[in-house]
Amino acid sequence: MANTKADHWSSEKYQNAAGFVPQLTTKVLEYLSPQPGERILDIGCGDGQLTTDIASRVTSTGQVLGLDASPSFIATAQKSNTLPQLKYELQDCTKLDQDELTSGDWDKAFSNAAMHWILRAPETRTSFFGDVYRGLNPGGRFVFEMGGKGNCAELHTAFTAALTTVGGLSLEAARESSPWFFPSVDWMRKTLEDAGFDVLVCESEYRPTKSTESREDGSGGLDGWVRLMGASFLEAVEESRREEVVKRVCEWVDGAVVREEDGSRWIGYVRLRAVARKKT
Ligand SMILES: C[S@@+](CC[C@H](N)C(=O)[O-])C[C@H]1O[C@@H](n2cnc3c(N)ncnc32)[C@H](O)[C@@H]1O
Repeated sequence: MANTKADHWSSEKYQNAAGFVPQLTTKVLEYLSPQPGERILDIGCGDGQLTTDIASRVTSTGQVLGLDASPSFIATAQKSNTLPQLKYELQDCTKLDQDELTSGDWDKAFSNAAMHWILRAPETRTSFFGDVYRGLNPGGRFVFEMGGKGNCAELHTAFTAALTTVGGLSLEAARESSPWFFPSVDWMRKTLEDAGFDVLVCESEYRPTKSTESREDGSGGLDGWVRLMGASFLEAVEESRREEVVKRVCEWVDGAVVREEDGSRWIGYVRLRAVARKKT
């Protein structure tokens, strides 16, 4: 099932603004530890860079299914796929209740940098974990990384401020336009346990990350990040004011993100990682 929301993603813009996201994944991939023959679901797979890596590790005896709500990302992923064990489907992962997904025979479910978008609406939060639980084999593992409490806090705050001042939105409307849910470790542990999982790891890491280089077409650097990752915030204001919001957000966070030694900009990423096991 596809998502009806506007598709802001394109593989090129993603690489230019946040190409580091699928690259900074050593730890979560170590936790996933894909093995030959395994069946793995990648939830919010994007343009499939990580999914391809996972699929090559399960080899042709395994199976990997990448799911994403972005038609642009899924089209790019399908076009570049050469592995018979790898398939992609356009899917709004706020609902994973189809037989194929909840049949209970996936060895592992994986997600990187996607669940803070998927879990934005409070009403999806319980059903999502229940769906993933049902989809796994007994003993199967759910391994993921996402934005945790305090993720990109300087940018999140600057967006709210810019939407209320430049955009003329109420504080409530500005907050409501946020596309993200960044839970705490405590919230995540309890939610996983309530869904029936044994929680093996649930941790958070402050990981400031260097912004990409600015580009003339506006798709790189901090402003490129603001335009792509903050597209839902920007959509909440009139089109004619959106570039002013981008400018203000970048100006306001400057003091928090610029490093004096070389002028580079570092975004205050906080990652939440977990490994949860379905009971046998
Ligand atoms: C920052 S990208 C991460 C992509 C990929 N996992 C990676 O590590 O490069 C976030 C992804 O979440 C996906 N996403 C957001 N909401 C979603 C939803 N409701 N269902 C499925 N995918 C969703 C977006 O389309 C996007 O591909």
